[in-house]
Amino acid sequence: MTIYSASAPAKAILLGEHAVIYGKPAIAIAIDKRVVTTVQNSYEMTLNGKHIDMEYHPHIEYFSEKYNEKPIAVTSATQIPPSSGLGSSAAFCASLSLAIRMKREDSKETFDVANDAFCAEFHAQGRASPIDTFTSTFGGGIAINANGIGKKLGDVEKNGNIWHVESVKVPKMTLVVGYTGIKASTSELVNRVKQFKEKNSFANEIIDELGTNTETGIRALTEEDFVTLGKVMSKNHRLLSVLGVSCNELNKLVEASEKYSYGAKLTGAGGGGSMIALTDQPEMVCKAIRLHGGEPFVVETTSVGAKEES
Ligand code: MEV
Repeated sequence: MTIYSASAPAKAILLGEHAVIYGKPAIAIAIDKRVVTTVQNSYEMTLNGKHIDMEYHPHIEYFSEKYNEKPIAVTSATQIPPSSGLGSSAAFCASLSLAIRMKREDSKETFDVANDAFCAEFHAQGRASPIDTFTSTFGGGIAINANGIGKKLGDVEKNGNIWHVESVKVPKMTLVVGYTGIKASTSELVNRVKQFKEKNSFANEIIDELGTNTETGIRALTEEDFVTLGKVMSKNHRLLSVLGVSCNELNKLVEASEKYSYGAKLTGAGGGGSMIALTDQPEMVCKAIRLHGGEPFVVETTSVGAKEES
């Protein structure tokens, strides 16, 4: 029986998480850690050899319902800790989207692969922006609502929201990731912000400020102005903390890294997961993160998005 295999990279959001759900700009980069996913025909739906109940696997359920798929066996191997803020589920969706298209002999147009991956993520989370799935599918740098700073890839529409997606040329940068070891559910954190917004009138001002701040950061990134970008990242972290998506462990790692960095912030949904530091002293940052209870690793940007594997 033919096995169809595809892989996709993890991502790190440099600026704009959460606010992007409400139409504000965001920028993310694909990083050199990948998820490899395979699909093949089967007599029952399985994931890594175990029968699955679709209720608990909404990403797979999305594809199964959309394509009226006969049972398939899915396997997934990842270099990314799950629920770590580095987009393991987006990379899974992107690689699954491509593998299913290979099996069906459908178009492998990158935008279509990304859009399907986004719809699967949206189906699973109930609320999502395209930042994670488009970054995992396209690779490189992806900006949302960046006002033409990058190269236009297209618009994504869902439930009355429209996001303008652009690819952005990203300079060589060293980022240190600090993983707290705390697994955090993206949908719970996205909901937390929604509730915070409903209860606190000033939440919209914070979200607006996150938007303005991110715009400054995207411009600084394209000008390779790491000093401004770093300052904006640290400010972004403080604003996200006010929105209630940071935690003590993340704050400790951010604070400890800032001494040796241009800037540092939580990345992704927050509530645990990971932080990133932009630095030219990666060893010092790794040491500081380790000393404060985190697990550090240095990441590089990759331009290789979702791709077919043999
Ligand atoms: C999660 O990596 C980023 C969020 O903004 C959710 C999303 O955009 O779908 C928290």
